[in-house]
Amino acid sequence: MTVPDLGTDRLRLRGLHAADTEAVVRVFADPAMSRYFEADFSDPDQCRASIARRLTYTGPDGTGHWVIERDGTVIGLAHLRPSAELPGDLMEIGYFLDRAHGGQGLATEAAAALLRHGFTALGLPAVWALIHESNVASQNLARRLGFTDVGGGEHYGAPHRVFVALPGTAGQWHHVEVWVPDLARAEASFGWLLGELGWREHQRWPGGVSWKLGTGYLVVEQSPALTGDHHDRCAPGLNHLALHAGPADRLDALVTAARDHGWRALFEDRYPHAGGADHYAAYLENADGFEVELVAESPRVTRPG
Ligand SMILES: CC(C)(COP(=O)(O)OP(=O)(O)OC[C@H]1O[C@@H](n2cnc3c(N)ncnc32)[C@H](O)[C@@H]1OP(=O)(O)O)[C@@H](O)C(=O)NCCC(=O)NCCS
Repeated sequence: MTVPDLGTDRLRLRGLHAADTEAVVRVFADPAMSRYFEADFSDPDQCRASIARRLTYTGPDGTGHWVIERDGTVIGLAHLRPSAELPGDLMEIGYFLDRAHGGQGLATEAAAALLRHGFTALGLPAVWALIHESNVASQNLARRLGFTDVGGGEHYGAPHRVFVALPGTAGQWHHVEVWVPDLARAEASFGWLLGELGWREHQRWPGGVSWKLGTGYLVVEQSPALTGDHHDRCAPGLNHLALHAGPADRLDALVTAARDHGWRALFEDRYPHAGGADHYAAYLENADGFEVELVAESPRVTRPG
C-alpha cells in the first residue's frame, strides 16, 4: 500500500505503519470512540486486530489508511478505500479523532485534505461516507465538507445515513470559444453533433451560439473582429476538440450520420483505430477545417488474425 503524505495547516496525514499500533490503541482507548461501531476498539486486542487488518490493505494506489499527526503525535486515523458496504468500487472515507483534540475542526481539516486528494490526485468521481444515524458529530463534519445526505440503509449492522461528495468545478473548463468564418455552417455541423451527444443550446445572439453539457459550454462565434476566413488545424492554435462519444456502436452510427451534417471523416481507411489499436475513435472535419475527435468508451479492440 502506498499513500502519499498529506499536509494541512495544523496536521500531517501519513501512511499507517505497524509501528503506529500502540499510538492508535491509545487514540481508541476511550469507549466513546467506538460508540457507533459494531466492535469495541477500546479493547486493545480488538483495536490491534483492526489495525492489523488495515495493514494488509492492497487496494488501488493512493488509497488506503493514514494516521493523523499533530506536532509528531498520532491523534487519529483516516481512510479512503473502496467500500465493502456499497456496490461496485465506490470510494468510502472514514475519520477518527482522539476526543482530547475534538471540537477544534481538526477532524474536518484532516477529512478535507483526504477529500481533496481523492478528487485531485486520484480523480475520483465521488466520495462516499456511511455514518451511523445517531453520529451527529460525524454527520455535521460531512455536511461542513459539502457532503449530501442521499438516503439511509442498514450498513455495518446498524442504520446508517449515506452521504456523497462530488468534485467541485474549480479548475474545470468553464467554456471554450471557437471563432468561425460562417456561423450557419458551424451551427449545422457543431450544433447537430453536440445535440447528438446530449449538449443543449445555451445562448444565442446574432453573431454566435453556444451549447452546454454539465458545467461547461462551447461557443461558436462569427465575430466582426475575425482576422482570417479559414481555420488551419495544422497552424499554431487549436488542432482539434475531442469528445466522449459513448459505446462503440453508437460511435459507428454517429460517424455514418455525420456525413449528412457537414462532416467528412479523416483517416477513414484506418477507422476506428487510426489513433492506435486500443483507441476506438473517429476523426471528423467540417467544411471550415475544424476537426473533432470522437472517442468511444469501452474500446472494442480488434486484433489482427
Ligand atoms: C467524528 C469525529 C471525528 C468528529 O470530531 P469533531 O471534534 O466533532 O470534529 P472536528 O475536529 O472537525 O471539530 C468540529 C467542531 O469544532 C468546531 N470548530 C472549531 N474550529 C473549527 C474549524 N476551524 N473548522 C471546523 N470546525 C471547527 C466546530 O464548530 C465543531 O463543533 P460543533 O460540533 O460543536 O459544531 C469524532 O467525533 C470521532 O472521532 N468520533 C469517533 C469516530 C467516528 O465516529 N468517526 C466517524 C465515522 S463515520
